[in-house]
Amino acid sequence: MTDNSLVNKLIQLKSQSRLGGGQPRIDAQHQKGRLTARERLDLLLDKGSFREVDSFVVHRTQDFGLDTQKFSGDSVVTGWGTIEGRLVYVFSQDFTVFGGSLGEVHAEKICKIMDMAMKNGAPVIGINDSGGARIQEGVVSLGGYADIFLRNTLASGVIPQVSAIMGPCAGGAVYSPALTDFIFMTRNSSYMFVTGPDVVKTVTHEEVTQEELGGASVHSEKSGVCHVTAESEADTLFLIRMLLTYLPQNNMEDAPFALSTDDPLRMDVNLDVIVPEDPNKPYDIKDVIHRVVDLGQFFEIHENFAQNIVVGFARLGGHSIGIIANQPSVLAGVLDIDASNKAARFVRFCDSFNIPLVTFVDVPGFLPGTNQEHHGIIRAGAKLLYAYCEATVPKMTVITRKAYGGAYDVMSSKHIRGDVNLAWPTAEIAVMGPDGAVNIIFRKDLEKAKDPVKKKEQLVADYREKFANPYVAAERGYIDDVILPSETRPRLINALEMLSNKRDANPAKKHGNIPL
Ligand code: HXC
Repeated sequence: MTDNSLVNKLIQLKSQSRLGGGQPRIDAQHQKGRLTARERLDLLLDKGSFREVDSFVVHRTQDFGLDTQKFSGDSVVTGWGTIEGRLVYVFSQDFTVFGGSLGEVHAEKICKIMDMAMKNGAPVIGINDSGGARIQEGVVSLGGYADIFLRNTLASGVIPQVSAIMGPCAGGAVYSPALTDFIFMTRNSSYMFVTGPDVVKTVTHEEVTQEELGGASVHSEKSGVCHVTAESEADTLFLIRMLLTYLPQNNMEDAPFALSTDDPLRMDVNLDVIVPEDPNKPYDIKDVIHRVVDLGQFFEIHENFAQNIVVGFARLGGHSIGIIANQPSVLAGVLDIDASNKAARFVRFCDSFNIPLVTFVDVPGFLPGTNQEHHGIIRAGAKLLYAYCEATVPKMTVITRKAYGGAYDVMSSKHIRGDVNLAWPTAEIAVMGPDGAVNIIFRKDLEKAKDPVKKKEQLVADYREKFANPYVAAERGYIDDVILPSETRPRLINALEMLSNKRDANPAKKHGNIPL
């Protein structure tokens, strides 16, 4: 055999591996409007940066006729590449090979690149499109899943982990994405559920489609399992690239600095009139966010879930930040179970990865009612409180309007290690809103009053004058300064830079016990 034939053999083996399950199955994938595992990686990664590993790996199963069906690389494509020039590790399940099902070697390939990612401190992005556990391999494939779950858990808080769901993801398989930091789903072609429609019908007699049970809409609006959705696979992968620009490579690094053309001293006079005079009138907190951050660019997480709180990434003076903001235009910005869970998880992500937190507060309190109480608003609210208390990254807070009751404490207050706490002159910091307060403390006076309506109006006005302002808190130093809304951007950038060497730590412990 000449050297040339060896080279030719290698070329032939590699091109065979690149065909996965073969052209007819690739065509079938395309007919479903889906891309192949490799096409997805091409879109995700910088052009030409992908380096594949384990393309010669084949399964070792002899049963059910599998010994005669071997595909080079098996049902997952793994390796590394770059996004905006920064290293990432990737795996992309190949539906053209045994429906992307996960057996022993599929799991081994994923574990290998996860181990490399941990050693070398770079994110892992997994593209999921799989029929689940490879049925012919039985318990070995369950073991493979568990090997991945363990690695997901150990990697949590060390390297960012991102999952894209681009096809089926069912059964216990859902738990690997669920353990990662962010789940992206493509609308109308991806689904996640623990038990599929057939089992649901048998057990609960409900008739439900895959889309209704676990499509992108359900998980981005109702369950909150999905963080970001997109209309197409290309858009989904593009959004993952964008997300990565806000994140550090690992927990020992800072997120990349991106010099901005947006002037750090830019003021915005529109902010001075953004809060309506009537305290019960809504405004959109996203208008505030867009006016404050670099170039108005805000990468929202959980955009369609628990919309009474807004979370996402942006930049201030080129520094990556995480924003948490009550949304007065949805349920008056009240904190409920979903909003608390959403924000708590986001705060913890940012704290794990050294991303400073900017909190905009306009919150009337926690949502009252049996539904919330019975489903554990106490536990959920405690989760958010715990997350903020525990966070040691720079924490900046701007109270734009209401900061009432326990929600004042929770939303990154000075008392729980807020570093720079600012308020707009429109801020109302009190135990509760004037109406509720007067009803309680002046109940007897109101009962006795000749004209209770007039009396109440007067008492509400007195209370508002006395407490519904930022100055009582500022007198105590709970608020560091009351600022013009228009100067919010320069003040936050200044605070961020002042805090750039912040060092703070929590007491040594194995781990805390966040109220889950
Ligand atoms: C082995 C599988 C497979 C699996 C699909 N295939 N799922 N092979 N193990 N889990 C194979 C099919 O036999 C078929 O092979 C090829 O992949 C494509 O599958 P189709 O059914 O033709 O595709 P489609 O019509 O698009 O349907 C996709 C599907 C369906 C909805 C995913 O294949 C399906 O329901 N699969 C079984 C799903 C499942 O029950 N998995 C186990 C879940 S339990 P050929 O050669 O005919 O083309 C689980 C536990 C995990 O995963 C626990 C972790 C802790």
